[in-house]
Parts: sequence; structure tokens; C-alpha cells
Amino acid sequence: MYGSARVSDDSDRTAFRKAEKKYKLYYDDTSKSSKKKKQPKRVDLSEVLDFKSILKSQVENGDLLPGIIPLQSDLHRPVFCLESRPGFFFIPEALSVEEQCQWIRESLNNFPQPPNRTNHNAFYGHIHDLFIAANENKVLVEEAGVPTSLESNSGPSVSNDDVHRWKFYGEHSVSSGGNPCKSVSAAVLLRKLRWSTLGLQFDWSKRNYDVSLPHNKIPVALCQLAKRMAEPAMLEGEQFQPEAAIVNYFGIGDSLGGHLDDMEADWSKPIVSMSLGCKAIFLLGGKSREDPPLAMFLRSGDIVLMAGEARECFHGVPRIFTDKEHAEITPIELQFSHEDDHCYLEYIRTSRININIRQVF
Ligand code: OGA
Ligand code: MN
Repeated sequence: MYGSARVSDDSDRTAFRKAEKKYKLYYDDTSKSSKKKKQPKRVDLSEVLDFKSILKSQVENGDLLPGIIPLQSDLHRPVFCLESRPGFFFIPEALSVEEQCQWIRESLNNFPQPPNRTNHNAFYGHIHDLFIAANENKVLVEEAGVPTSLESNSGPSVSNDDVHRWKFYGEHSVSSGGNPCKSVSAAVLLRKLRWSTLGLQFDWSKRNYDVSLPHNKIPVALCQLAKRMAEPAMLEGEQFQPEAAIVNYFGIGDSLGGHLDDMEADWSKPIVSMSLGCKAIFLLGGKSREDPPLAMFLRSGDIVLMAGEARECFHGVPRIFTDKEHAEITPIELQFSHEDDHCYLEYIRTSRININIRQVF
């Protein structure tokens, strides 16, 4: 789903692809000196919609850009719609700094825990306590002599998950010399964590929900938050029933290619999507990749809803900003440093997390 995966059969010529290229992270190679730190190429951000400044000028002098509609809702906070994209809703600063920190903690500690699956499942099976292991400098080591599901000839019902082939060890208990075992540090695995799935498990290889996979219900607090935030997009008398969530983890240079989320049965129900950590650029296209997308900033604490017609719009995240000036995460950095949570601080300084919550049926 990352990088090119969801844009595979796309030529570089569509309007969506052009916009992705415009905002993508490239490095300046003008400074040839290897001593100099690589500098990100400057991009023109003048066309990126900025709901923080839209909100500010609306509050200060009642001004609004053409095509942006403020919505009255029961949320008791500002919600904006776009005239050109019915069914799309932007709720700036929807989450307090405390709430943002809470969901960052959950996303790192609890959401990637079995039975929830992550991108690491396919290779390592279920991994328990990855975030703790990373902070304790543990190393994941392949246990010699334990048969894999393929080798053990135990039939198709035994998945890799049932065979615990990989185990965490302290960094010093893994000898380097002559050790035939494969190993990988938990810190590297944490950096390579790309997604985890909550509730009904989405199977990325089949691009569908696999209801036969063991799963827990969406955590109650997340369910309540999503139901509350979905309200502006809900039709009269309807209820939003969160059944699944996908958590995306973005590191430096990561992007999410243009795609549609079309595996849910009822497109009148919104996808509730919350942003945490470093600021990003979100592209909201039209029903065809040929339609020029709108670019907008997503900051930590912002929530967007995509319902109805907006569910048919291509969208993606071509860029996250991890430099101090553009990341705009000072409030969460301060909160984590007060609480002495340096492990979260270190992670979030160069990362973005997106939690998007869906009703599947
Ligand atoms: C998705 C998605 C948007 C984001 O995961 O389907 O569109 O803001 N995410 O990361
Ligand atoms: Mn999506």
C-alpha cells in the first residue's frame, strides 16, 4: 500500500500522479560535499489548503476562501466542507494535545499487539511487545530447529502464526561470531512498522476483510471517539458502527499512494481518519486519476471524514514533514517530555501516525 504499491498500473501522466511527484520528498543533490547533511528539495506549498489559517481568519474576521463552507454541527467545534467534494469534512484541531499523546501511545504499544496483524506478520508471524522490545534494545532471533509451517508439512490450516519461530533476546545475549541464526533488532522492526489492523482484519494481499481471522473488537474509547466525530457526515437517524481500523505508520520519506477504499459495503458511512505526529500533505482527487487533486495540510489532531461521493475520490499522502519547522509537533513534544516519555518523543519526532476507522458491513 505504501509508495508505489497502490499506484502500480498508473502512468506518470495522470493529474494525480503529477501532484504526488510535485510534493514528494526529494533531496537536493546540488551540495556534492558528503559532509553536508542532505537537504530536502524545496517545494512550492502555496497551493496547499491550510485549514489552520482558514480557521484563524474565519474566527478573527469572518473571512472564508471561496469554495469552503463552514458547517453547523453538534460537535461544538468548527467543521469545514468543500463545495467541490461533497461528503468530505475537515475538523481542524479535533483532538486535544493529551488525546493526541494518548492515541500515539496506543498506536505504538497496543494496536500492533496480536491478534491484530501488522505488515511484519507475513514474515515473522505475530510479534508481541515490539515497542517495549525496541526500547530495551532487544533483538528478534529466529529459533533454530523449529519447523516452519511449510517445512512441517502440517497442512494448510496451520499458518505461520501458530509457529513461534522468532523470539526476542537481550542485545548481549545474542553472540555475533559464528551464530547461524537470523536476527533483526526490534528498533529496526519498529522503524519498518507500516501498518496494523484493528477489529475486523484487512488482508492486504487479497485487499479484502478476512472475517475468518481472529480479532478483537475495536477498543471502546476509539469506537466512542469515531462515533462522536462521524456525526457531521451521518444521515439523519443513522448510526456509525466502527468495525475495523487501519493504523498507518509513516517515517521519513514514506508516502501513501493514491487509492480508493472500496472494500466496505456501505459508502454512505464515513471513514473517520485522524492524524497524529508530523504534518503531512493529503491529496484529495476526484473520481478519476485524471482529475487534478486538491492538496491540504494534515496536522496532528486534525480529523477528516470521507463519506458518500467523497468515498469515490482518489486520495493519498505524498509527503510527511519531519523537519522542526514544518512538522508542527511542539505541543506533543512538550507533553511527552513533561511526562518523561522519551521513547514516544523520539519516535514521533520523525513519524506520522494515521488511524482510520471504518464500518465494514
Ligand atoms: C488510508 C488513508 C490517509 C492518511 O489508510 O486508507 O487514506 O491520512 N490514509 O494517512
Ligand atoms: Mn484511504
